[in-house]
Amino acid sequence: MDKFVIQGGKPLYGAVRISGAKNAALPVLAAALLVPGTCTFHNIPDLVDIKTIKKLLKNLGAEIEGSATVRINAEKITNAEAPYDLVKTMRASVLVLGPLVARRGEARVSLPGGCAIGARPVNLHIKALQDLGAHVTLKKGYIEARAKKLKGADIYFDIPTVTGTENIMMAAVLAEGTTVLNNAACEPEIINLADVLNGMGAKITGAGTDVITIDGVTSLQPVEASIIPDRIEAGTFMIAAGITRGEISILGCNPQHLEALINKLRDTGMSITSIAGGLKATGGERIKSVDIKTLPYPGFATDLQAQIMAYLSVGEGLSVITETVFENRFMHVSELMRMGADIVIQGGSAVVRGVPALHGAQTMATDLRASASLLLAALVAEGTTEISRVYHIDRGYQSIEKKFSALGADIKRVK
Ligand code: UD1
Repeated sequence: MDKFVIQGGKPLYGAVRISGAKNAALPVLAAALLVPGTCTFHNIPDLVDIKTIKKLLKNLGAEIEGSATVRINAEKITNAEAPYDLVKTMRASVLVLGPLVARRGEARVSLPGGCAIGARPVNLHIKALQDLGAHVTLKKGYIEARAKKLKGADIYFDIPTVTGTENIMMAAVLAEGTTVLNNAACEPEIINLADVLNGMGAKITGAGTDVITIDGVTSLQPVEASIIPDRIEAGTFMIAAGITRGEISILGCNPQHLEALINKLRDTGMSITSIAGGLKATGGERIKSVDIKTLPYPGFATDLQAQIMAYLSVGEGLSVITETVFENRFMHVSELMRMGADIVIQGGSAVVRGVPALHGAQTMATDLRASASLLLAALVAEGTTEISRVYHIDRGYQSIEKKFSALGADIKRVK
């Protein structure tokens, strides 16, 4: 297993280009299952999670070629099963459920089970699929869904679920009649998926708001489309500029997707300005404390909570970070504390008392965003930090050590 060895204390300067968004690419690639023809998608990031979904789609019978530009021919779907081995490595594999039922009338998808950041059930995906008329049973750890023809319905999500909204949007595009998704998630990745589906001939309005209307169509055509930039990767580099007191131009990002983070970083004393093709993030002299609550978009992203905690841990005073999206997303806290951070968890909140400095330590990545927070802490820590289990970070950050090295970080991948 690879690990990172990082020598801290170097301010980062320069420019970084943001890759395509993992969380937009995954549903868009799954959407190709809806089309009996070849779809072409550009700006696909080179990530382990993307390799996993390609493997899954191939398993279902799709022909796939390319990496940054991916061509998928789902003319023939020969199998409707997403096996445990693939779903356990990536929960988002559940995204094939909606398209498979819509196109083939059946799907057998392993239940994802728990993960490092909480129980993360898929009950809302299942309930909404049942609302569309699918017969769903849970057998031997698998979701088995069948429907000759899905029927449009008025659906209400108890919680705005991102992949749930995407799954049901993909199921409903080929349903008979109109589906309305109420309390839908509003993430930019959902707009990207709706745009792609509309490019295929779907009739979706309201994506990006909490009410999405889908008028079913009888068939869809191949599309050529692009993936939006990764707002979580962009946010991670903005925080890197802040924690190292450097200055990074974040190129190719969409600042509108980053408003909650930009506002918080400015409150801490960072300067964030628009530049041609992106943003410039400049660290302040001091890191002032702020309180943060994670929320569904457009609130502060839970996927940036671990990273901003590393930043505030070397700030001045007391910051309270409240996690409301996932119940167990503080796995990074104990690792940050091994580096000298002063953090106390109280229920769903982490109380972060800023310390003057962190020190290098041997640490272990527990999940994707937790590993990014350890990396940020390591960039500013005194001495050497080792981060083991970096396969977590490779799931969601393209060439991360190369991008950080180019900005002046002393980071090595050790096999
Ligand atoms: C997606 C993102 C993930 C991000 C998360 C929240 C992808 C591939 N992953 O995950 O990076 O952290 O959104 O922004 O896009 N819930 C239920 N029942 C369900 C579904 C969800 O109770 O059937 C709960 C979850 O446990 C969680 C909340 O709803 O508490 C939101 O989760 P959800 O938006 O579904 O997260 P994901 O789509 O899995």
